Amino acid sequence: FALPCLPSPTNPKEAKQIRILEQITSKFHLTDAHLMHIEKRMLDEVNRGLGKATNRTANVKSFVTYVHEIPSGRESGQYLALDLGGTNFRVILVELEAGSRSVKMKACKHEVSQKLMLGPGEDLFDFMTGCLVEFMKDHDLHGRKYHLGFTFSFPTRQRQLDRAELTHWTKGYKNAGVEGQDVVTLLKRSINKRPELDIQVEAILNDTTGCLLACAYKRPECAIGIILGTGTNASYVEDMNHVELYEGPRPRGCKSVVINTEWGAFGNTGSLDIIRTRYDHDMDSNSLNPGKQVYEKLISGMYLGELTRYILVHAIELGILFDGEAQTLLSVPGGFPTKYISEIEADPTRSTFTNIKQVMLELDISVATDFDLQVVRYICECVSTRAAYLAGAGVASLINKVARRRVTVGMDGSLYKFHPHLDRRMRSATRRLVSDCIQFEMVLSEDGSGRGAALAAAVAEKQRKKFID
Ligand code: GLC
Repeated sequence: FALPCLPSPTNPKEAKQIRILEQITSKFHLTDAHLMHIEKRMLDEVNRGLGKATNRTANVKSFVTYVHEIPSGRESGQYLALDLGGTNFRVILVELEAGSRSVKMKACKHEVSQKLMLGPGEDLFDFMTGCLVEFMKDHDLHGRKYHLGFTFSFPTRQRQLDRAELTHWTKGYKNAGVEGQDVVTLLKRSINKRPELDIQVEAILNDTTGCLLACAYKRPECAIGIILGTGTNASYVEDMNHVELYEGPRPRGCKSVVINTEWGAFGNTGSLDIIRTRYDHDMDSNSLNPGKQVYEKLISGMYLGELTRYILVHAIELGILFDGEAQTLLSVPGGFPTKYISEIEADPTRSTFTNIKQVMLELDISVATDFDLQVVRYICECVSTRAAYLAGAGVASLINKVARRRVTVGMDGSLYKFHPHLDRRMRSATRRLVSDCIQFEMVLSEDGSGRGAALAAAVAEKQRKKFID
């Protein structure tokens, strides 16, 4: 696997600094053996999640989504979708046209404040309903009944397509009174407070499932949906015979079901400890959920910037960066957002410093020499390359699991979209870990959480008819 290139020294002092830099970042470089091991362990964990006897102790829970129907393209009509899962909440109106496989969308985005993320659950649901009411007013949608799909991108144990209990919050949310509850009931309770609404909640789904459905709408050979955004996760199509935890009647004629792996929790009981560094451990201990979402913390947007910040601060303390001068903004938690990594690595050559100088300006760092800039960029590359290879190993395990001759993987998420090299690095890792006889492609499936939720609502009715009474 290609490794980031160390800066070139121009004098003995820099040569010494580079040796120290090499030492503190050496553990970020993963070998073939590491990645092969991780691919196997992930597969093992997904299988443990599927098994009745092993699910309780599995880190990766492999939740059944009760989504059996992959959209056929014959769906039509207007559907509403709600999308909660990261820093923004969206209300979306989706129009499906039978036969066209194209989707028209109108959406309205609202930022979810820290206060809302940490306050009582009821406030969060009332906020979402309030946004829905406003959206319907703005688009003149009152006066008829709407079917709605709810993308709720947190780990839930589903019992049916429209029933899902939140197991635990992730990604900085901590609303009281929601864990252990059926999220659809909470949403309906809030909707019922508004007599002007006539809404039928048809389906609840994860963003990865939405991504898979939205991608499969265009490319029927899509069997995997991956999100690399604030958090990371994957869904895939599984053979019903392997799903031991399916509850209730099995729909007639359905051979497969979508599984939401919740792979972010991979490593929670130590299987990734061989590659975790002191920085990973420090960041984890200071997070809202120590010891949880270990794989996610190595890969996703909510954490990569923070992890980089820990290394930068240590490099300053060791005197190999900014002449050892402490930098105020860098010492604040969250002071180095992940978007800086994408921006810095988007400078086109090793000797171009346009974006990185802009980042230094925003961080109020005026002491940076060209050598410092190269050190900062190298640290970013170490963190993001490791993330790409780890994600690539995860994708490889699912491609190997699905084991079709041709597989399409739908991809979405801010980190995937905005990092300039993540996709390429990830593909190279996946290719090396997938059996040669499998052809796969990774395609951007933008806005699966909106389109996918509407598609889930549209197929819900068709699916209902297939259940044996
Ligand atoms: C977190 C959530 C998961 C979601 C992912 C991507 O891992 O637990 O449900 O799919 O983030 O948004």
